[in-house]
This record gives sequence, structure tokens and C-alpha cells, in this order.
Amino acid sequence: MSLVRLVDLELLGDERGHLVVLEGSKNVEFEIKRVYYLTDTTLGTARGFHAHRKLHQIAVCVSGSCRMIMDNGVRREGVLLDSPRKAIKIPPMIWHEMHDFSRDCVLLVLANDYYDESDYIRKYHDFLDLVALR
Ligand code: TYD
Repeated sequence: MSLVRLVDLELLGDERGHLVVLEGSKNVEFEIKRVYYLTDTTLGTARGFHAHRKLHQIAVCVSGSCRMIMDNGVRREGVLLDSPRKAIKIPPMIWHEMHDFSRDCVLLVLANDYYDESDYIRKYHDFLDLVALR
């Protein structure tokens, strides 16, 4: 199965412009407890470089674009997030990195739990060890 699991968001709106809706337990498959967004990412900077033990997230570039890399410890896959209609699921135990942020990129992330540093796996070799144990 592909590591890149996209959610095609419906584009509502009319001649005034677009509208995209994200609803917990509907087109987002979990209850949303936290929302955060990345803006003004310095050109050439990459972010992420971690996995979560339990957290489920979904991310979408509401403006601009970035490249998301998903890695399960065996395989790496990348996808360009370049549309406010194209969300990506970030499940637990997937190492993820964000690269190639455009200047206007606003990356919106929805999560099913509050921020908890102990849920992070920040070292790639720790991630590989944990994947091997599963
Ligand atoms: P971090 O997760 O390292 O950013 P990224 O993976 O996108 O590069 O988060 C950067 C800092 O912000 C870090 O000190 C943790 C803090 N932070 C919070 O306090 N709450 C949050 O919800 C998030 C996502 C990060």
C-alpha cells in the first residue's frame, strides 16, 4: 500500500471564491483536538524529521506548496502538496519530512491530540529500531 494517503477535499464556493471544509469524524477521520500551521518558512528550510508514536494528523497546504516525504523505515515516498483540496494523512509511526516550502506556503495541520513531546520520535535510528520491533 502506498505510504501517501491523500484525502480529496471538496471545493465549495462560488463566483466569490473557494471554500474548503474540514470536519472532525467526517472528512477528517478523527476528532480534532489541535490545529497548527506553518507559515513564513525560511527558503531552503526543511521541517518535520520525526514520527509520532500514537498521534494521527492530516495536513494540507491552504496556500502555496511543499513536498511531503513519508517513510515507514523500509520505503520512502514523496508527494507535492500544491492544492488546498489535497490533504495528506500522517498516521502514527511514519517518519515524515517537509521540503521545498514555497514562499507563500501555509501548511495547516489537524491532530487528534494535544501537543505531547513524549509522543515524538525525533531520531531516525530510534525510529528504525522501533519499526524493527513491531
Ligand atoms: P516541531 O514539531 O519540532 O516542528 P516541525 O516538526 O514542524 O519542524 O515543533 C517546533 C517547536 O514548537 C517545538 O519546540 C515544539 C513546539 N510545538 C508546540 O509547542 N506545540 C505544538 O503543537 C507543536 C506542533 C510544536
